[in-house]
Amino acid sequence: MATLGVNIDHVATIREARKTIEPDPVWAAAAAELGGADAITIHLREDRRHIQDRDLEVLRKTVQVKLNLELAMNPLMVEIACRVAPDQVTLVPENREEVTTEGGLDVVRYKKELTATVSKLHDAGITVSLFIDPEPAQIETAASLLVPAVELHTGAYANAAKDSDHELQVLAEAATFVHQAGLILNAGHGLTYRNVTPIAEIQGMEELNIGHSIVARAVFVGMAEAVREMKDLIPR
Ligand code: PXP
Repeated sequence: MATLGVNIDHVATIREARKTIEPDPVWAAAAAELGGADAITIHLREDRRHIQDRDLEVLRKTVQVKLNLELAMNPLMVEIACRVAPDQVTLVPENREEVTTEGGLDVVRYKKELTATVSKLHDAGITVSLFIDPEPAQIETAASLLVPAVELHTGAYANAAKDSDHELQVLAEAATFVHQAGLILNAGHGLTYRNVTPIAEIQGMEELNIGHSIVARAVFVGMAEAVREMKDLIPR
């Protein structure tokens, strides 16, 4: 059974729209835990457009489940992670102009830089996951970097208007490759109440990270209920 990491970035997006103190992502994390979240995920972006340093600090003290921090491979950000010590860091690519993370981290291209980054995070006792596209070369390189886990980018599947079966097949084959490489299989991006189940059913899926869709539903039904409803769509 896959676990659910609830990404609460967009609670902070609403707060930052007014540069005020509400809604507080710390409350959102507590409510998500009440709804059954297995992990809380946040992305501390370099431009601090949603999650702030204060959120990370407070959440580190208050989150009772696993805290997963998405982070760009930038020395300053890695330094923050090593100091605050979340349970897991998921390394992601980051462009200032993008609305959301657009593609996987190109671990083949950045292998040299990643070697140093991964080793720093490991030395700080942090589990590292690499957010990558579902491609054999990316998976193979991730394994050679000695990380325990990868998160497969499900954006192409989520965005496929007609051919989602093909994209599901791509992810299922990549998942087999992830297991053969001895890596833990996580997935996320663009997952919703409508498209999550086939991804959750992929053999050996460990963790799904879902944000926008849960926060969107939480506006109407509350965070705990939104998380409960998503958990119900993930086969036990
Ligand atoms: N996984 C990663 C690595 C991400 O960068 C994001 C977006 O922050 C998500 C999962 C969640 O994506 P969504 O908000 O589309 O559910």
